[in-house]
Amino acid sequence: MGTAFFCDLLLAIKNILFYNYILMNSKVSVIGAGNVGATIAQLLASENISDVVLFDILEGMPQGKALDIAEACPVWKSSASVVGTNDFADTAGSDVLVLTAGFPRKPGMSRDDLLLANADVIRTVVKGTSGLSPDSVLIIVTNPMDAMAHMALDESGFASQKVLGMGGILDSARLRTFVSMELGISPKDIETLVLGGHGDQMVPLIRYTTVKGVPITELLDRNRINSLIERTQNGGAEIVSFLKTGSAYYAPAASTVEMIRAVLYDEKRLLPCSALLDGPYGISGLFIGVPVYLGKNGVEKIVELQLTEGERELLEKSAASVKDLLSVLKK
Ligand code: APR
Repeated sequence: MGTAFFCDLLLAIKNILFYNYILMNSKVSVIGAGNVGATIAQLLASENISDVVLFDILEGMPQGKALDIAEACPVWKSSASVVGTNDFADTAGSDVLVLTAGFPRKPGMSRDDLLLANADVIRTVVKGTSGLSPDSVLIIVTNPMDAMAHMALDESGFASQKVLGMGGILDSARLRTFVSMELGISPKDIETLVLGGHGDQMVPLIRYTTVKGVPITELLDRNRINSLIERTQNGGAEIVSFLKTGSAYYAPAASTVEMIRAVLYDEKRLLPCSALLDGPYGISGLFIGVPVYLGKNGVEKIVELQLTEGERELLEKSAASVKDLLSVLKK
């Protein structure tokens, strides 16, 4: 038996210890046990990422969904604990708090139309949870997400690097999907970055859209690219128009779990997330989607790209629409 065998053995022991004793002690509380929240809980449990507390205002519903997910864990060979509750006390000591509580859109509505109704919900749930998990990272999914993240920051009193919104990963995933469909290839090799507010004014960066490093402009003509961008900007509305009674949840949940994993595993991944800007990109005092290094402290660093004049203009326009929403909230 050579050195290589012992190295492999040590690695295997380290992995077992790491996954079973460190990660499985992580606790994620998902606030809002509707379509997005329950799907996040399912992914966390099925992938054995953390213990999960699923909270909702509706009595019985989070308990029923959590028990159902817990009963799937033996089949998944997962040792995650999954608990449903209507009591904020059960969320105490969470490593990550995920806010999905609130109302989804109906056909014809924009994300911004949810502002006032969801602002009340976010205020209530941040008040109920943040003091019980003062060291947690707070991830906001509820729309209009950038404005809700700002409210969550104010209400929690957390350091700004600990509060993030989920939008850019989802918008980027949608563009990657549409490029893969257009080219008839695997989405795995497609990379892109969508910045800006998580709304109709989002800013997909064509310069950073590649297939295994090959610029998309070498593979598709400009008109096709523009139509894929437009479809991405309306990606959420396209799903709403099919579902009629609610909005997307599989891709939003998968995108949120990518963020949770980056925090719990301290991956320091470069991901587009909504973060509070105070200077970068010439923007201050606003949550906007930008590339960040995401790790155990939340936003480890905001990465400032050198944007072209056109890209900068689009980002400013997107930031202005987030600012308008905030001013409605402050009235
Ligand atoms: N406290 C806790 N839960 C609440 C509260 C509250 N004050 N108010 C509403 N909820 C719960 C609802 O009972 C519901 O179970 O939030 C859940 C929302 O679930 P869905 O209606 O299924 O909505 P979903 O599709 O999950 O979307 C939630 O995420 O992507 C965004 O735009 C979407 O803002 C929406 C949010």
